[in-house]
Amino acid sequence: MTIDNLDSFIADLPKAELHLHIEGSLEPEMMVALAKRNKVAIPFRTVEEVRAAYSFTQLQDFLDIYYQGANVLRAEEDFRDLALAYFQRARADSVRHAEIFFDPQTHTARGLPFSVAIEGLLAGMREAEAELGVTSKLILCFLRHLDEESAFDTLRQAEPWLDRLEGVGLDSSEVGHPPEKFAKVFAAAGERDLKRVAHAGEEGPPSYVYGALDVLHVDRLDHGNRAMEDEILVSRLAREAMTLTVCPLSNLKLCVVDEMDKHPLPEMLRRGLRATINSDDPAYFGGYVNDNYRALAATGRLNRAQFATLARNSFLGSFLPDEEIAKHLAAIDVYTLSR
Ligand code: ADE
Ligand code: ZN
Repeated sequence: MTIDNLDSFIADLPKAELHLHIEGSLEPEMMVALAKRNKVAIPFRTVEEVRAAYSFTQLQDFLDIYYQGANVLRAEEDFRDLALAYFQRARADSVRHAEIFFDPQTHTARGLPFSVAIEGLLAGMREAEAELGVTSKLILCFLRHLDEESAFDTLRQAEPWLDRLEGVGLDSSEVGHPPEKFAKVFAAAGERDLKRVAHAGEEGPPSYVYGALDVLHVDRLDHGNRAMEDEILVSRLAREAMTLTVCPLSNLKLCVVDEMDKHPLPEMLRRGLRATINSDDPAYFGGYVNDNYRALAATGRLNRAQFATLARNSFLGSFLPDEEIAKHLAAIDVYTLSR
């Protein structure tokens, strides 16, 4: 199959997205427009200047600019607009279901009431389902560079919305902030029947992946690249059918991998890992989910059947009920047979 044929197979392949920070879908155009609408000063005059600032050599370089960008989000309507823009873009990539992260502490630290981000996002999610047919779930991420008490405070503030939250996650600066730091708050989330996910092994060592599994009791692992350094860990992840939400363009932009030709995803599949492809922060890393699929297709290291497996994994790794997952898997079968 030629790359062109593979790209067109990817374009309409039904898929789920499981690793998407909604604040990371803030496109420069929307950042500039919201800065104007909300009269917020930003250190850029044009969309081009914003884009030119997106050059990173490690995770922290990106995080500094990402938290600064989020400062233009001020009202429920802003969060609703942000979510809807993402879902429109995702729909164009044949995303049928998305499980999206948000970082409430980024917003409450700026003085926004907790309700603003969550109500705005939930409104956008409802509209996306009604008008675009894209279903979604919301995952509240704790910022790991802050302390566990701040995470607990965030969980307390989320109490009135727990029925509309699918789970909790852990993101931000990884190295120096191991999973163990959040053991108690993740246990509390588990007692509230929330799903648990965590970024681990993006920049952090394999021991952080063990911490996510054994201390945080995660239901899904975000990134997980550095698990590949530990054979025993890889075998365990495969045996436990742990879903890995891998983000190829993010890995390239944050120098987690040197080049796409060396990305571990093909090896992950070979080792029997339930890997998925996701966009992480598409406005910052140069592409939405299909761009991530295509970036790997361009290396010639994965075939059509493997992309279908990746799409299947995205539903298998989702927190949808089994009967919904079965419907999506059947749709992938129909699609694959029709091509
Ligand atoms: N927050 C947004 N994107 C992130 C990433 N890739 N790693 C950690 N924290 C993040
Ligand atoms: Zn992420």
